Amino acid sequence: MNILVVGGAGYIGSHCVRQIAAAGHRPVVLDNLVHGHKKSIPGGVPFHHGDLGDQPLVRRVLRSEKIDIVMHFAAFTLVGESVGAPIKYYRNNVARTLSLLETMQEEGVGKFIFSSTAAVYGIPEKTPIPETAPKIPINPYGQTKLDCENMLGAFARAYGLSFAVFRYFNACGAAEDGSIGEDHTPETHLVPNVIRAALRTGPALHLFGSDYPTPDGTCLRDYVHVDDLSRAHIAAFDKLETPGTALHFNLGLGRPYSNMEIVKAVEKVSGLPVPFTCDLRRAGDPPELCADASLARTRLGWNPRFTDIHAIVETAWRWHRNHPAGFDDQA
Ligand SMILES: NC(=O)c1ccc[n+]([C@@H]2O[C@H](COP(=O)([O-])OP(=O)(O)OC[C@H]3O[C@@H](n4cnc5c(N)ncnc54)[C@H](O)[C@@H]3O)[C@@H](O)[C@H]2O)c1
Repeated sequence: MNILVVGGAGYIGSHCVRQIAAAGHRPVVLDNLVHGHKKSIPGGVPFHHGDLGDQPLVRRVLRSEKIDIVMHFAAFTLVGESVGAPIKYYRNNVARTLSLLETMQEEGVGKFIFSSTAAVYGIPEKTPIPETAPKIPINPYGQTKLDCENMLGAFARAYGLSFAVFRYFNACGAAEDGSIGEDHTPETHLVPNVIRAALRTGPALHLFGSDYPTPDGTCLRDYVHVDDLSRAHIAAFDKLETPGTALHFNLGLGRPYSNMEIVKAVEKVSGLPVPFTCDLRRAGDPPELCADASLARTRLGWNPRFTDIHAIVETAWRWHRNHPAGFDDQA
């Protein structure tokens, strides 16, 4: 199948492009490179440089590449920024997604896979969090993702769009061959920031809150390897045959690790000490976020290969050690 990967030059999208090709399908990338890296796209994969809200461009790509399924990873993703700049977030994440869906509908492309987030749940009443838990986002980023989810539901009912929504918990890790990995500016994710602190290539590490009601006082989060995320997306392809199908899945390992455990894992894998300071709690950070991902396991046969945090950190460590300046290190 021909798969359009929107945001395919970004962190998760670029890993998914490789997994799509490995599964025998044909990935095609659309990205405006506002945050992504052209170097993350393998040679031979068609790349269209442009915005997902550019309807003439999207129309041309859908037609010329004979697209069967659209996977949509493109978004702005910084929670803090979304609080101060909601227009930027609603425009890129919601308005442009509407534009993309409208073009697909007009072109008769009826299968869609969407990157959502645990942030749609806000502060959960209990963990592990099932897909049926209340969705009460506490920031514009999470709200834009929930708005897109609701929009997909309306498109399924009105136009027969078939879609799968994946709510990721904490994506991390890098390609096993070390060729690509995470390279965000600014970087807000814990694993790369702990590794960069260990390598002294990033800023000093701050852990927010050491007085949570958790075993070591730091927050608990659910980490999942980026290639396992990608494999779940691919497993959804053949579940989208019936028009109007609407699927929602959490993706996480269901075993949370504390911030401190991540620091210890990086120290063990790298053999380097990680300097850090413990700061006050950040507003809106719940003590624990952990996925109940049993639905993805039963319905999609999803069976994550990376179940040990050290194995996950090892892949990220290899990428950062060999590319201390990220993609800028690559020819
Ligand atoms: N990284 C995580 O831990 C995580 C967790 C939950 C959800 N998500 C979601 O997964 C998706 C991918 O996350 P990521 O970490 O790979 O982000 P990323 O920023 O690395 O990748 C996003 C890509 O989309 C592109 N893009 C953004 N706006 C665009 C537009 N209007 N037109 C064309 N391209 C555009 C960027 O250039 C970038 O290459 C996002 O939707 C994010 O909300 C990520």
